[in-house]
Amino acid sequence: MVPLLKTHLYLFLGTVACSTTSDYYQQLIAQKTGDALSYVLPKNNEEFKTGFKSPIDEYGQYDVVVVGAGSAGSVLATRLSEIDKISILLIEAGGEENDFNQIPAMWLYHQFSELNWGYYTTPQKHSCLAMTNRQCVVPRGKVIGGSSSINGVMYVRGNCKDYDHWAALGNRGWSCKDVLPYFKKSENSQVEGDKNYHGIGGFWNIEYGLPSSPLFDNFVNGSLERKQSFGDYNGENQTGSAKFQTNTKRGRRQSLGTAFLNNARKRSNLKVVTKALVTKITTDQRSKQATGVEFVTQNRKFLVRARQEVIISAGAINTPQLLMLSGIGPREHLTEMKIPLIADLPVGQNLIEHPLLNLIFRTNYTEPNATLENLVERYLNGLGPLTKGGSADGTGFIHTKNNSQVPSIQIAFAPPNAIDPSISRRSLNYNNTISETFLKNIKPESDILIYVMLLHEKERSNFTKLKQPD
Ligand SMILES: Cc1cc2nc3c(=O)[nH]c(=O)nc-3n(C[C@H](O)[C@H](O)[C@H](O)COP(=O)(O)OP(=O)(O)OC[C@H]3O[C@@H](n4cnc5c(N)ncnc54)[C@H](O)[C@@H]3O)c2cc1C
Ligand SMILES: *[C@@H]1O[C@H](CO)[C@@H](O)[C@H](O)[C@H]1NC(C)=O
Ligand SMILES: *[C@@H]1O[C@H](CO)[C@@H](O)[C@H](O)[C@H]1NC(C)=O
Ligand SMILES: *[C@@H]1O[C@H](CO)[C@@H](O)[C@H](O)[C@H]1NC(C)=O
Ligand SMILES: *[C@@H]1O[C@H](CO)[C@@H](O)[C@H](O)[C@H]1NC(C)=O
Ligand SMILES: *[C@@H]1O[C@H](CO)[C@@H](O)[C@H](O)[C@H]1NC(C)=O
Ligand SMILES: *[C@@H]1O[C@H](CO)[C@@H](O)[C@H](O)[C@H]1NC(C)=O
Ligand SMILES: *[C@@H]1O[C@H](CO)[C@@H](O)[C@H](O)[C@H]1NC(C)=O
Repeated sequence: MVPLLKTHLYLFLGTVACSTTSDYYQQLIAQKTGDALSYVLPKNNEEFKTGFKSPIDEYGQYDVVVVGAGSAGSVLATRLSEIDKISILLIEAGGEENDFNQIPAMWLYHQFSELNWGYYTTPQKHSCLAMTNRQCVVPRGKVIGGSSSINGVMYVRGNCKDYDHWAALGNRGWSCKDVLPYFKKSENSQVEGDKNYHGIGGFWNIEYGLPSSPLFDNFVNGSLERKQSFGDYNGENQTGSAKFQTNTKRGRRQSLGTAFLNNARKRSNLKVVTKALVTKITTDQRSKQATGVEFVTQNRKFLVRARQEVIISAGAINTPQLLMLSGIGPREHLTEMKIPLIADLPVGQNLIEHPLLNLIFRTNYTEPNATLENLVERYLNGLGPLTKGGSADGTGFIHTKNNSQVPSIQIAFAPPNAIDPSISRRSLNYNNTISETFLKNIKPESDILIYVMLLHEKERSNFTKLKQPD
């Protein structure tokens, strides 16, 4: 029964009938990487605006309504549904994951598909200087699993001292000691890390991307020469270099949708609606409490009521947008947008990005070319370049000041053949000059890429000031 079904699936999914799994994947990669080069990103939510005429239809009542099945929403809905007597509706604007987005090394291509909302920054004065119109990309997942379905699968929990700082600011329950048990509970970790810092038996598989490139040894030795240790950044000390721990299972992406939600979707107390855009949180006039949400799907608009709670887990960009559309935000801005005010709050005013710079170095090493067939064969065995998160082998956390409590910079090492100039241009939005002078000169088989990420930036973005970018 099962093998028969599989054969049929391949016939439907491929444009040409494929006889083996390997053929299917080779064709899928060729097709999807090609499509991404010409995919036109949406400029608005038009897909949800196609001519519904009816007034709002009732969608009934649930105890909890969760908006967004991304990283946070998938975990919250899964955990809440473990309590039998709570009924939950989870509403997601995107659709299901697919075989292509499971391939970690293809991460940049998902940004040019229906899996991405397609945002850019406003034109900048002091940053994004190499980008077309001085606009950086702001990819955000629009699919079950959210951004965890299109991200670089690098499993980095964050520095203990940062959590402790949050707790010290008055956020009870957020100290390192408080959150560590939940990280461990979530994990099914295969890494050989520090004792007491990793969990086994949880939903989320964590493993090393294998095998590392031969050049990774040079990266590690380089950091040892600089007196940095080599170890486990999710363990006792974050500082130093380490092999990447990735959110993958036998080389395939483990989004929070795959890892968590898929376990819970069978439960009768959880309903998941996909391809549904939440447009408003409804509130009770007098108590100002959230009562439910309005959403659009399949040309109809619905109202669903929440008996207990409405959880907004729509991500760093869409959560403040939805709050503001619902009248929760700064008075001045909502008045300007003619949105009736429910609560005057500084929503959308403290966005912290983590800026990333790509440094490319030429080596005298040449990575032997692998055929797509060979790469796919290895991927299907859970190995090789296609399984690599962000196409990188390892990482390092660095203190740039002697007295700093926490590392200020994270670097990551991506070996030869990790850079793909054909998608780099779109995924970074490089302008014509930079593409001609810089991208054209890259020799993927010899060049290595060092990502440099600033960890504690001072800059804060302010959504309510979008008309005057600085
Ligand atoms: C390209 C890229 C690479 C990254 N690499 C890494 C990495 O290697 N390691 C790492 O730890 N982190 C990485 N991140 C960051 C990480 O993926 C995100 O921080 C995390 O997924 C955010 O989770 P979230 O729940 O806040 O939002 P999301 O996961 O983005 O979820 C929000 C969900 O809400 C849905 N939604 C939004 N608005 C609505 C609406 N109005 N109605 C219905 N549904 C809605 C969205 O479609 C989405 O599914 C990366 C992110 C990106 C984009
Ligand atoms: C691209 O960016 C560089 C760096 O800011 C700039 O010198 C160049 O003029 C830009 N080219 C185009 C075509 O905008
Ligand atoms: C890294 O250092 C070790 C120990 O000194 C040495 O054996 C090894 O050859 C070095 N590797 C590279 C690639 O330099
Ligand atoms: C962590 O760092 C401290 C202080 O530098 C050191 O004593 C300890 O051995 C380190 N632990 C691990 C597991 O590397
Ligand atoms: C964001 O912009 C608004 C409107 O100009 C301003 O009132 C507010 O103070 C700004 N917030 C921050 C954190 O800078
Ligand atoms: C690359 O250069 C280094 C330093 O000059 C040298 O030791 C090494 O043999 C060279 N490797 C190759 C593959 O040419
Ligand atoms: C690898 O293949 C690419 C594309 O076919 C080619 O441009 C490049 O020269 C090849 N590199 C090696 C080392 O064979
Ligand atoms: C840190 O201290 C060491 C030893 O005192 C010194 O050599 C080094 O320059 C300092 N580094 C920075 C970034 O201040």
